[in-house]
Amino acid sequence: MKNKPRRRHPQKPILSGPIHEFSVEDLSHEAKGVARLDGKVTFIEGALPGEVVSAQIFKQNKSFNLAKLKSIIQASPSRIAPPCPHFQQCGGCSFQHLNAKEQQQTKHRWLSKQLRKVLHTVTLEILIDQDMAYRRRARLAITYRNGRVSLGFRGKGSSEIVDISTCLVLTPRLQSLYTQLRVSLLQDVLAAKMGHIELLEDSRGTCMVMRLTADISAQEQQRWQHWATEHDTLIYWQYPRDKQADATKHGLRSYTIEGFSLHFHPQDFIQINAKMNEKMVAQALQWLAPNKDDVILDLFCGVGNFSLPLAKQAKTVVGVEIQESMVAAGKQNAQLNNLNNLKFIAADLTQKVGSEISALGVSKVMIDPPRAGAYEFLPTLVALNPQQILYVSCDGATLARDAEYLAEYDYRITKACMMDMFPQTAHLECMLLFERV
Ligand SMILES: C[S@@+](CC[C@H](N)C(=O)[O-])C[C@H]1O[C@@H](n2cnc3c(N)ncnc32)[C@H](O)[C@@H]1O
Repeated sequence: MKNKPRRRHPQKPILSGPIHEFSVEDLSHEAKGVARLDGKVTFIEGALPGEVVSAQIFKQNKSFNLAKLKSIIQASPSRIAPPCPHFQQCGGCSFQHLNAKEQQQTKHRWLSKQLRKVLHTVTLEILIDQDMAYRRRARLAITYRNGRVSLGFRGKGSSEIVDISTCLVLTPRLQSLYTQLRVSLLQDVLAAKMGHIELLEDSRGTCMVMRLTADISAQEQQRWQHWATEHDTLIYWQYPRDKQADATKHGLRSYTIEGFSLHFHPQDFIQINAKMNEKMVAQALQWLAPNKDDVILDLFCGVGNFSLPLAKQAKTVVGVEIQESMVAAGKQNAQLNNLNNLKFIAADLTQKVGSEISALGVSKVMIDPPRAGAYEFLPTLVALNPQQILYVSCDGATLARDAEYLAEYDYRITKACMMDMFPQTAHLECMLLFERV
C-alpha cells in the first residue's frame, strides 16, 4: 500500500520588514544587542553595544521587535572574529564575537544591576580562568533521518541539531574524543538507536554515556566496547527502560577537589568547569573560614563538592541533597576520605524539612541551589539563625530575590563575586557572603 501523502503545514509568515540603521545601546541577558526604533526596544542578535548596524525587523511584538543583523556600519572595538566555525548557527555559545575581557565586564554589569538593591557599597569582585577548552562535560544531541546522521548541539533559537565538526569550549581530550566519535558514528547504524550522548572527562580519563532509544544486540554493544578500548575511553550504556546508565561494569567516576577524591555516577551533577570549580571552592573556604567550633549545613550539596573541603576544617558538616544516589555517593566519599564529622541527608529542600535539619544548631550555611533558587527554604534558613550564609548561584534574578528576602531578616552582604564559570556563553555564577547584623 502506498503511504498517504504527508500534509504540508503552511510555514509561519516571517515578516521581512524594512531595513533600518540602529545604534546599539546594550546587551540583553541572551547576549542580543539592544537598540531602539522610534522608542521601541529592538533585539538584534550578533550586534554589540556601541555599534551602528543595519538590521531587518522580522518579528514585531507589542513591546519589542526582533531584527536580523544585515551589516555592521561601525564596529565595537571589543568585537573579535568568533574562533569557532559553527558560532553563527550553534546554540551552545552566544558570546564568541566579544573579547573575553568585555564578556566578563558585561556579566559583571548585569549582575551589579540585578543585585543593586542589596549590594550597597560592597564591591562585586570577578573570578576568572581560561576562556576556551574548559568544559569537562557535554551532552550531544543526535538524529538519524533518511540515512543521514546529525551530531552536535541545538541551533540558536531552534530545536534543530547543528552538525558540528568541533567544539572549542570542550577540554582538549573531549575535543579529540568528539572528532573520533563523529567519524565513526556518522556511518554507523547505531546512530538510529541513540537518544543523546554525554561526554565526560575526569580523574579517570574520558567516558561516554550512550542513551539508547531502542535495545541493541550484545554483538553491537561489544563492537562499540572495542571501539572504546581502541580510543582509550569507556562507554556507559543507558537502555530505554532505565532511568540511569548502568555503572556496575565500569564503576563510578571521580574528580579531585582540595586534595579529596570525589566519586560520582557519570550522570550525577558535577561542576562542568574543573579549574573554576577549584578556584570557587578555595574562595568559599576562604570566605566562610570554617573553624573547629563550626557546625555547617551544606544545602543542595551534590556529591559533596563543598562538604568535604568544609569538613576538613569544621567541627561538623551536614550535606543535604534531593537525589538519593548522590547522597549515597556523598556518604561513600566521606568514608573513603576518612571524614567522620560529615553526614549526608536526603531531603527535598522545597518542602518542609524534618527535625534532623532544623534542630542542628548550625553556625554557618553553604547553599548552592539550581537556577530556581531557594525561596521555599528561606523561612527555615532564617529560623536556623546562622551567623554566616555563603550563597552560590547560577541565576542572578533568583539570587537577587533571595538576597532581598535575607536582607529583610538582617543578613547583610559583606563579600560578592561574579565567577565566569561558562565563558563564551551568557551564563554566569555568583558567590555572596551574608553576615547577620
Ligand atoms: C547547582 S547543583 C550544586 C551541587 C554541589 N553543591 C556542587 O557544587 O557540585 C544543585 C544540586 O541541588 C540538587 N537539588 C535540586 N533540587 C533540589 C531540592 N529540591 N532539594 C534538595 N536538593 C536539590 C541537585 O540534585 C544538585 O545536586
